Amino acid sequence: MNRKEFLRLSSMGLASLPLSPFTNHVAAKPLIISTWDSGMPVNAAGWKVLSAGGSALDAVEAGARYIEDTVDCCVGLDGYPDRDGIVTLDACIMDDLANCGAVAGLEKIRHPISVARKVMEKTPHVLLVGQGAQQFALENGFTLEDGKLSPSAEKAYKQWLIKSEYKPVINIERKDKNGPFAPAFFDNGQPNHDTMGILAIDQYLRLAGAVTTSGMAFKVHGRVGDSAIAGAGLFVDREAGAATSSGVGEEVIRICGTHLVVEFMRMGLSPQDACKKAVERIVSRDREKAKVIQVGFLALGRDGSYGAYAIQKGFVFSVKSDTEERIIASPHLL
Ligand code: GLY
Repeated sequence: MNRKEFLRLSSMGLASLPLSPFTNHVAAKPLIISTWDSGMPVNAAGWKVLSAGGSALDAVEAGARYIEDTVDCCVGLDGYPDRDGIVTLDACIMDDLANCGAVAGLEKIRHPISVARKVMEKTPHVLLVGQGAQQFALENGFTLEDGKLSPSAEKAYKQWLIKSEYKPVINIERKDKNGPFAPAFFDNGQPNHDTMGILAIDQYLRLAGAVTTSGMAFKVHGRVGDSAIAGAGLFVDREAGAATSSGVGEEVIRICGTHLVVEFMRMGLSPQDACKKAVERIVSRDREKAKVIQVGFLALGRDGSYGAYAIQKGFVFSVKSDTEERIIASPHLL
């Protein structure tokens, strides 16, 4: 790099970045990408922020709040409960300077992502759980909801209670009746849960990510998934990029999934290839188990390149920028 180029990149804060070759999709910045087809309106909410010159951090929070507000969705208070009939929420938010905040097992609070942001900005901690997280939320102006299940969650829970089987299969049962990009469905036609992971880059090339979920349907009370854990369900790094995940959180936690994806990008892999390597790590650990579960990774390079990879067919993601607005089917390993 010559001196002139160094000064140009320095003025953008990019002088020391190893700019990896991007073999995948590259979009104009700013850009927002989200897991699943339900990420389309999520991106639209975040795009309002980005297109008005707002920060990536504000954009991902706005996107997460949108889906947390969506009635009969598989994320937020209207999501499916645990096996005791209680909805518990996990969320994490992170910027590219390693600032992050998260909540796990949060009950009766509408916007866990905004509580996570308060954890990030108002405490020296990165993760608050259960009662303590709820107490912190109330102290910071959030209101307590009644905790009633949504009609569709109640119906699904009652049906699950008949057998009370603990078979945490996520996001691979898909029916065609709602189109090729419909969310995953249980055999009874009810939607399974889909974690919403969101990554954005703003006009100043700042990266941020957010992830929010009600977690695995009918989980053991107290179970925490990858979404609440920085480095598992979400990781953002100024120099290397950002990644998020959806699917069986336990398998993502076991390999520190999104941290792994970001480290692969730091080594020069494209976002898609980095996601693929992380998926291969999960599958190589236990191929038989991998055949019946889903994990999808989604990644954003700091040059605006993006990509995804999943264990099974069916993982899709949504993209929004100045030049594109679309749903893309992720490649898959099995
Ligand atoms: N990936 C979300 C969860 O396992 O809870």
